[in-house]
Amino acid sequence: MENPFTRTILNWYSEFGRDLPWRRTRNPYAIWLSEIILQQTRIAQGQAYWERFMARFPDVHSLAAASEDEVLRLWEGLGYYSRGRNLLAAARQIDARGSFPATFEAIRALKGVGDYTAAAIGSIAFDLPLAVVDGNVYRVLSRYFGIETPVGSTAAKKEFTALAQSLLPADKPGDFNQAMMDFGAMQCTPQAPACLTCPLAADCVALRTGRTTSLPVRKSPVKVRERHYHYIYIRCADETAIRRRGPGDIWQGLWEPYQEEGELRGFPGMRLLKEGVRHQLTHQTLTADFYLLECTEKPTLPEGYVWIPESSLSQYAKPRLVNLLLQNL
Ligand code: ADE
Repeated sequence: MENPFTRTILNWYSEFGRDLPWRRTRNPYAIWLSEIILQQTRIAQGQAYWERFMARFPDVHSLAAASEDEVLRLWEGLGYYSRGRNLLAAARQIDARGSFPATFEAIRALKGVGDYTAAAIGSIAFDLPLAVVDGNVYRVLSRYFGIETPVGSTAAKKEFTALAQSLLPADKPGDFNQAMMDFGAMQCTPQAPACLTCPLAADCVALRTGRTTSLPVRKSPVKVRERHYHYIYIRCADETAIRRRGPGDIWQGLWEPYQEEGELRGFPGMRLLKEGVRHQLTHQTLTADFYLLECTEKPTLPEGYVWIPESSLSQYAKPRLVNLLLQNL
C-alpha cells in the first residue's frame, strides 16, 4: 500500500531520527513553540530556548499573560524578533479562543504561522494529513525523483507540495514530515550528501545520473544590502542613551545605544573601541563600529532616545550585534 519511498524514509526515521524533547509529547502548545523557534533557528541553538520557554511558560495561559518585554528578553539572541512578538500575540489568540486550534485553517490563522508551520503543527500534534514543504523536502524529493523545477517559484511550490502530499502516509503524517526534516538535515545534506550509506540510493535519480550537486536547481539569489552602522555608547553621570527600534524595522522592539548610519558625524572626544564588526542578516550585511563618549553634560540627541541608568541596561532586549559591541566596554 505504501510506496517504497515512504516505507524507506519511515524505517530510516525509526532508526536514526533525532530524540528531541518536543517529539516526546503531543501537547500542541509545546509543539507549536518548537516550530516557531525552529522556523529560522537550528536545533542545536533552538533547543535550549525551547527548554527555557517551557520552564518559564509551561502552558499557553502563562505565556499569554507575559509582557512583550519579557518574551523578547527570553528570545534575545535568536534573531528574527518578529517571531517573538508573534509568539505572544498567538498565545493571546489561543488563550482568548479557549483551546488550541486543531484544523489547518485555524492553526494557519495564528500570528506567525504560515503554510509550513501550520502543516507541521497539524500533522505532528493532531495527525492531520498535511505534508510540510521546506528546503529539506525540496532537496530530498528533487534528488530522488530528478526534478529540475527551480525551487523558490510558485510552480515549484505547487509541484513539490503535490508530490509530498502523495507520499504522505495517512496514519503517520507527523512522523513522515519529521522524517523528511531529519533526512534532509542528516543524510541528504546540501553539501556532500551521505549517498554511500543512503537507504534510498538504489532508486535515487540524482545519484544514478550524477546530479546530486546540481539538484535542487536554484533561482538566481537576491541581492543583499550592505549597511554601515556607527554605535556611540554615551556615558554621562552613570547614565546612557538608548532607543527602541520602531515598526517595520529588522529589530523592531529591540533597544540600541545612540546610532548613526552611513557617514559618521559623532561627537568630539569620543574614542573608537572596536571597528568593522560584521553581522549577517538574511537580506542585509551590517558592518558596525563602536565608540565610547564619556561626558559630564548630556548632549542633545535626536528624538526617540531615552537616558537610563547604565546599571539597568541589561534589562533591555537588544540585538545580538549590540550585545557583541557592548562586550568591548
Ligand atoms: N525544523 C522545524 N520543525 C522541526 C521538527 N519538528 N523537527 C526537526 N526539525 C525541525
